[in-house]
Amino acid sequence: MPAFEPKPLKYRSLPGLSETQLAEHYKLYVGYVNKTNEIREKLPRADRRQANATYSDYRELKLEETFSLNGIKLHELYFDNLGMAGGRPGEEIAYHLRRSFGSLENWMQDFYALGLAARGWGILAFDLDEREVRNFLQDAHKAGVITHTVPLLVLDVYEHAYFIDYMTDRKAYLNTFFRNIDWDVVNNRLRRCLQKPGA
Ligand SMILES: [Fe+2]
Repeated sequence: MPAFEPKPLKYRSLPGLSETQLAEHYKLYVGYVNKTNEIREKLPRADRRQANATYSDYRELKLEETFSLNGIKLHELYFDNLGMAGGRPGEEIAYHLRRSFGSLENWMQDFYALGLAARGWGILAFDLDEREVRNFLQDAHKAGVITHTVPLLVLDVYEHAYFIDYMTDRKAYLNTFFRNIDWDVVNNRLRRCLQKPGA
């Protein structure tokens, strides 16, 4: 299995997010890449005959594989859905936000509340069963994931995402997040969902 490589950021700083803040956050992301590679290297050697649900090397590696791999995926989605200051939602995503939330303002109000209520992640996702967009909250990389949903917009609300620039002022960070959403990226993620059978 090929090793993961950290993906470079498409920006060094953003309006309201300093180079230092983003560089320190990026280091944590690289940590997930390294740990996932370490786990994947160890997994083939884990003794399957000793597998046990209370404790076993195999169980611990599989548990942390989920945590660290989601750490990679969520951070890549987060970094990539930022970078376009002042952008507006494209046609498809605007249609789905209005359909599910009544208006863009309603969606933003709910997502903002999500950002205040979550301990880890706020996620706008497309539900492949309901064929609608939904806002979900995750308190950790592997806690709160909804099966059959595809993340369209990912918000990191761990303090490491904003503490250098905003200290404990999460509301100021959320305002910065909204200003910097790359809606083209979000819209393209949605388009890929809509192209799947059943759309
Ligand atoms: Fe993070």
